[in-house]
Parts: sequence; structure tokens; C-alpha cells
Amino acid sequence: MKVFAHRGASGLYPENTYAAITAALELGVDGIEIDIQSTLDGFAVIHDTWLDRTTNGQGKVNKLTLAEVQQYDAGDGQFVPSLEQVFQWVNDRVLLNLELKHTFALDKLVKLIEHNVYSGQLSRENLLISSFDHHQLKWLKQHLPWVKIGALTSSIPLSYCEFAERLNAYSVHVDKNFINDEYVADAKARNLKVFAYTVDKQEDIEDMIAFGVDGIFTNYPSKAQTLLLQKST
Ligand code: G3P
Ligand code: MG
Repeated sequence: MKVFAHRGASGLYPENTYAAITAALELGVDGIEIDIQSTLDGFAVIHDTWLDRTTNGQGKVNKLTLAEVQQYDAGDGQFVPSLEQVFQWVNDRVLLNLELKHTFALDKLVKLIEHNVYSGQLSRENLLISSFDHHQLKWLKQHLPWVKIGALTSSIPLSYCEFAERLNAYSVHVDKNFINDEYVADAKARNLKVFAYTVDKQEDIEDMIAFGVDGIFTNYPSKAQTLLLQKST
């Protein structure tokens, strides 16, 4: 089972920051999930549409420039990274899962990704884009056909993972509380990976192993790694 650092190693460091991302890299995680919001002029790595919860600033991210967003403290002296900065920090070492939040200017996002791929900063295999907005995913798959798509969901639809297969997705990213044996079997039959979020407690990690999911998003990657190591020995 793969271990993905959720918002970086955000259980111990300010979420979606350099500290959380580099801590996750040092742990040797299989991947890092970050959240993307559009600014007036680019892409900021921050979960909420508003600055208020995770920084000492206020206001709506999409009404500000990157420079304005980056002047605030995102905890412990950290700042809100730009997507470009995260590409540089990760430097293609692990899979990067971009979760699109209130993200617009998708054509600009495609250009930024292509630029990083052509410059060797990012390889195609190490990029996975997810969103609860499946229309965005459909658009992205049309305009960047090679990109791996992760269909986010927090429900068990009547037709199980049909929606993700129709999107030509690589994976379904599912709320851990809406996973059952039927769901996992259906995903596997459709050749879709199942990644569960957000799995922090030992009992939940064990449940996900029992369900046979392919990976978990966790705020405490080292805890999950230790548990997996114990189980394999
Ligand atoms: O990408 C999985 C998970 O992060 C989705 O929910 O609110 O933590 O971004 P959220
Ligand atoms: Mg997220």
C-alpha cells in the first residue's frame, strides 16, 4: 500500500508548506498531495479559498496576486508556496498529486505543467491531478491526454466507479468512510487504483490495508510507514 503525505507531512508541520513537503520527502513517502487555488496571476498551494485559517492574512486567494498571498505567515515562519516552487522542491523525486480546489485558468495550468515536463523538472509518471470537479478533470484529460487523473469522491454511487471509468481516470480518491468491499472490487475490475483519504488513526490504516486499497493519504506518513513495516516483517 502506497503512503501519500496529505498536504505534505501536515500532522507535524504547517500544511502545504516547504516544511511539510520537505519533511515528507525525507521520510521517503510514495507521493505528496497538495491543494491548488488560483490567484489573480498564478497558482498558490493552499487548501482553503480564504487565507484566514492557515495564514495570518485575510481575504480570498483568487482576488489576490501570488506576491500578495506570499507575504503572509502560513505557520512557523512558512509561506504559501506557488505551484512552480513545489515543482522545484520536489524535483521529480516522488509522485505529486495536485488537488485542484478553486482553480481556474486551466489552460495556464496546462502550459505550466508542459513547461516543467519539457525542462525536466517533472516527469509525466510523477504527476496525478485530482479534483471533486469532474468537469475540470474531463477538460484536462482532453487537453493533456497523457495526464493521470484521480477522480475525487465522497460517496458510493449506485454505479460504483463507472463515473471514473468514463473519465478515463487512473484512480479514485475516496473518503475512507465510504469504502467497502464492493467498491474496491468494482474499482479493481475497472482497472482503477483506490486511494483513500484522510487516514491517520492506526485502526483506520489497518482497515484500509484489509480493504486492499492501493494507497492512503495521511497527515502522519511516518506512522503509516512504521505500521506497514511491522506488518511486512
Ligand atoms: O485529495 C484528498 C483530500 O485532500 C481531499 O480533501 O479537503 O483534504 O483536500 P481535502
Ligand atoms: Mg486535498
